[in-house]
Parts: sequence; structure tokens; C-alpha cells
Amino acid sequence: MPRPLHFAANWKMNLAPGEAGTFLDRFLAIDHPRHGRTVLFFPPAVSLNTTATRLRGHAGYAAGVQDIYWEPKGAFTGATSVALARGAGASAALVGHSERRHIFGETDADTNRKVRAALDGGLLAMLCVGETLAQRERGETDTVVTRQLRVGLEGVAPDAELMIAYEPVWAIGTGRNATPSDAALVHVAIRDVLESMGFPRQTAVLYGGSVNAGNVAHLLNEPELDGVLVGGASLDPDSWATICATSVE
Ligand code: PGA
Repeated sequence: MPRPLHFAANWKMNLAPGEAGTFLDRFLAIDHPRHGRTVLFFPPAVSLNTTATRLRGHAGYAAGVQDIYWEPKGAFTGATSVALARGAGASAALVGHSERRHIFGETDADTNRKVRAALDGGLLAMLCVGETLAQRERGETDTVVTRQLRVGLEGVAPDAELMIAYEPVWAIGTGRNATPSDAALVHVAIRDVLESMGFPRQTAVLYGGSVNAGNVAHLLNEPELDGVLVGGASLDPDSWATICATSVE
């Protein structure tokens, strides 16, 4: 029985609806669902409906939104509520990606409101955590990740539909990724915090940061990794299909 693995594509601010459609036509022609594997797509909000529509009827594939706002509706120009995301076909939400934290000033308290809104509205929440290079060099990795989890998950039910993505900020889009054993150490620390908060230790913890078709097998052979969250290398359907088809030991 292969261990369950999750492959999540974070398209960031790329792939308009037409491009997303072309991508998925190619991807779905070459990839096929595999037992125990899920493939999640996080397109930009404008391409969510196209993505979810193309994936409909394909078991094991789902679409999610890259960010949500916690208010249910109203005068919040530019924001996407959980209901809007669901209406466009999302079944998951990414929360607290480091670009949201560092470029858009999202705080841990914001991530908590977003996680709770996503879960209350019936979306799976994937909370992203990770330290900057300066924090790592100061030996603060565990402290930072612990705070991001403790605040981000405050008040969340232990049986919530939750995934964690560990993405060291210094590894995102830099071509420099954590070694499998570096990542594993942090994944264990994450599981310790989750367990101490009452969440199952086996909650899926994905790794992200410069994952590509060339290094993914090496990373996934580390059993602490339950999958990968991929930015740049998920933008090409052939490369993404290769990643989703990775064989693990
Ligand atoms: P990357 O991005 O794979 O391009 O490093 C990962 C992410 O930010 O989710």
C-alpha cells in the first residue's frame, strides 16, 4: 500500500483562464489519477472557475483558492470570500503563503481568521509556515514555525480538514531547497506542535520551495514529507505531470 501523497500546484499570479484551460487539457491528457495521491491546483482567482470546471469528474484532482478574506460579503474591494471561492469551484484554500505574509503584510492573526473562515465555510485549509533566511541563521526556525502554527490554528477544531505546508522562505523561487533531512527535522517539530494542540500527528505536512522534476523524488523519499507544494515547476504541464508521477521508494 503506497503512502498517501499530495501534490499541490501554486500558480501564483500566472495563467489566465484561457492559459489555465490549455494547461489542463494537456495535463489531463498525460496524467492519470493514482491511488492514494491527490493533486491540488491553486490558480489565480480569475482562473478558478475554468480550472474547477476542467477538473470536474476527475477523481483525485481538486482546485483551491490562493487567498481568501474572512468576511462573508460586502464592501471589500479586491477580496475573495469563501462563498465566492466555493461558487467558483474551490474546495481548498491556501492560507498564509509567505508572499502574502511578506509582500502583503499578512499577520499570524490574519492567517487565523482566514483558516477559521475557510474551515467554517467548508474548504480544506492549507496553512503555510516557514522561516526567513535571517531567522534560520539566528537559529529561530522552530520558534517562528511554532508561533505561526499556534496563532494560525488557535480555536480550530482538532478534526478540521487541515494541511500544513512547510516552505522555508529562503527556498522559495531561489533554486535553493532544503535537504530532505533539513525539511524532515522541521516537519517533526511541526507534528510536535500539532500534537500538543490536539491535532492528529499524521496531519499532512507538505514541503515547498524550489521543488522541481529533478529533486522531487529525493525529497519524497523522506517519509516525513507527505507531499509537495510547487510554484515555478507547476507552470508547465509536462513538468507538473512528471512531478505528480514521481515514484517513491
Ligand atoms: P517555488 O514556489 O516552487 O517556485 O519555489 C513554491 C511556493 O511558493 O509555493
